[in-house]
Formats: sequence, C-alpha cells, structure tokens
Amino acid sequence: MKERKVYGQQMFRTDRKKENMIEIWRKVLCGACMALMLTGCGSTEDNTIRFVEEEAIAKQPPAKEEETGAAEEEAPAEEEAPAEEEAPAEEEAPAEDAAPAAGDEEEPAPAGDAGSGDLITVGYAQVGAESDWRTANTESFKSTFTEENGYKLIFDDAQQKQENQIKAIRSFIQQEVDYIVVAPVVETGWETVLEEAKEAGIPVILSDRMMDVSDDSLFEAWVGGNFVKEGETCGDWLAEYLEAAGRGEEEINMVTIQGTIGASAQVGRTEGMANKLAEHPNWKMLEMQSGEFTQAKGQEVMESFLKSYDDIDVVICENDNEAFGAIDAIKAAGKTCGPDGDIIVVSFDSVKAAFESMIAGDLNATFECNPLHGPRVAEIIQKLEAGETVDKIQYVDEAYFDTSMDLEAILAERAY
Ligand code: AHR
Repeated sequence: MKERKVYGQQMFRTDRKKENMIEIWRKVLCGACMALMLTGCGSTEDNTIRFVEEEAIAKQPPAKEEETGAAEEEAPAEEEAPAEEEAPAEEEAPAEDAAPAAGDEEEPAPAGDAGSGDLITVGYAQVGAESDWRTANTESFKSTFTEENGYKLIFDDAQQKQENQIKAIRSFIQQEVDYIVVAPVVETGWETVLEEAKEAGIPVILSDRMMDVSDDSLFEAWVGGNFVKEGETCGDWLAEYLEAAGRGEEEINMVTIQGTIGASAQVGRTEGMANKLAEHPNWKMLEMQSGEFTQAKGQEVMESFLKSYDDIDVVICENDNEAFGAIDAIKAAGKTCGPDGDIIVVSFDSVKAAFESMIAGDLNATFECNPLHGPRVAEIIQKLEAGETVDKIQYVDEAYFDTSMDLEAILAERAY
C-alpha cells in the first residue's frame, strides 16, 4: 500500500515523491556502507547502481487498464433504456459554491505532470447505464479524466447493484488509485468500504447521489443536484399549471413512478413532492412504485397503474426515461397525455429526448438534474492536490423546462 499518513490532510502526490527520494538516498547510503564493509576499501559503484535500479523497478506504474471489470463476472445483464445520443461537453450554468462553471468542462485544467507520464489515477464507481442521464454522466467523466488532461481513469459500471460498487471500490483500493469517485446506487451501507479506503489513505469524492454515513470524514466532498429542491420545484410548477387551467381546487389524482428505491435521487424527489402534497389537500397520491430509473420498468409500472385506476390526472416520473415508458403505456391503453391530453406527465433530468417528447406534445414538463460532473470532480481533485480545502457539499444550479418555452431553440443548444 502507498503510505499516506493522515487522512483528511492526505499526503498528496508531491509529498509522496519527496519521501520516495529521501528513501532512495537512504538506501543508496546504506548500500554504499555495506559494500565498503564487504570489500574493504573497494569500489561501491555496482551496489549503488543496483539499489537505485531496484527502486526504479519498484516504482514502475501498474499496467494500464481502461475498465476494471471488477463486477463483471457476477453482475447479470440489466434491462436498461438505450441512450439515445452521445453527450458532448456542454456550456452550462455554474455550480454553486466551489463547483466549477460548466464552461470549464470543455477544457479541464491539466493535472499532474501528464507529459512525463505522472498521471493521477482516478477510479470511478459508476451506477450503471440505466438512463440517458447516466450515459451523459459517464461521457462527462471519460472526456474529462483523459491522459491528455493528466489522468488515468479506471471506470467501473456497477449495473445498478451496490454489491458491484463495493467490489469496484475494493478493486480500486487494491490498485492503489490516487482518488476514488463514487456515484452511489443507494444512500446506505457504505461505512465498511469507506473505512477501508480511509485506512488505505485514498480520498473518496462523491458525485451525483449522496451517501448517508454517520462520519462525514469518510469522504472529502460531494457534488450533485439538490433532489429535494427538484421535487419541490415540480410540485410548485404543477400547482401553477393546474391553477392556470382553472383546476386549482379540483381533486387531482396522482401516481408516482419512483426511481431506484433508496437512491438519494429517489428519496429527495419523493420527499420534495411530498412537501408540496402537504400544501394541497385536494391532491391525492393514489400509488407509488419504483420504475428503477429505466424506460422498460417505467412502462411496466404505468401499465399496472392504468389497470388499477381509470381516473389518473397526473403521473410523476422520477426520471425522463421512466416518462418515455409511461407515455408508451398511456398510448397503448388508448389514452392521451401531455398539454392537450388526459394525463399530465412530468419528469426529471431534462435530457434531449425529453425536449423531443415535449415538442411532440407528450410530456408536459421536465425538471433538470445536471449530469456533467466530470469537470467539477476534476476541480475538487486539483484543489486537493494543491493542498487547498474544498467545500464539503457542492450543489449544482438546475432549471426546469415546459411546453410554454421555445423548446426548439433550447434543444439546439442542449449538450445532453
Ligand atoms: O442520480 C441521478 C438519477 O440517476 C437521474 O435522474 C437518473 O436518470 C439516473 O439514473
């Protein structure tokens, strides 16, 4: 294991290099003394060279590896919504606090001494590829953590399984990466593996979803969206929309297709919406079921809702891909949706396909969750490398979009 003495004020790469040099010289001197003792006054050159060479061999970086495959053997294939488009780097609203402006995303600052092959190794434990949002998030990391930018990225797709992420984190620890980045599938159950990372002296950065840990020194920083706020914005939008349609006092029947149960994106959005339900006694939540953030499951859940209830006014989908599935189910059941339809459909993420769905008149509104975290995490790493402190919690600014807007124009500028 690499030696890092104090977690929280990690011995960063420059300190480790200094220590390595001191160690080399210490061994060189020891070698010289031993050679003198063995050969009397003879030459020490050979021994000295051998010690230096041994050091050099010991410091060879491990063979390059693009993806860990840490979870591959046991992770069964998952039913996932295919990503519709590759997400290029985007110019975005700046993140709050220390999160960098998205304009920085296109040219992340080079890290370390990339020219000499001294790369910063980052292991990214990704949730999976369940949605268009996730595809854009993966692309953001892969285009940021490149060798040209001074990084070696070890990427692992956990296929929406926490046990796979835990395996990936352990594999990163074994590989002695410099930083571990995790987008946790669910909030709980991370203490043990984070303790192991801490023990190994490897800083952990959380991105996108949050972890619920009793000791927040187990991670350096988190950057992501404010999921509770997203849910509340959705509730406020719905109240205004119904009011404008003259339905402010009407009894409104709702269903929710939730995300992966226990994921902070699900927990926060459900909570935000619940806060708004409490303000509107005429809103009735008929049922909530998980669509696991996928289009296929979203469709399946909506089909079952439509069989159980014939008077659904609103379906809240906790991501866009679930909404695409729900819309298919609504149409297959002979009903209509969108601004002129029987059922109001709202969702979260604001991926390109959601704009197309609003333009087609199927989706009413989408509440943004920004996936372009690669450059934001890179900025955190750069600050840690420089020995600077970073804000522990970094929220990203997010907007919403509905059919009253010039969606064609917004879509033309949209990066994901
Ligand atoms: O954690 C962010 C959520 O995860 C996004 O809303 C969803 O699309 C993704 O799968």
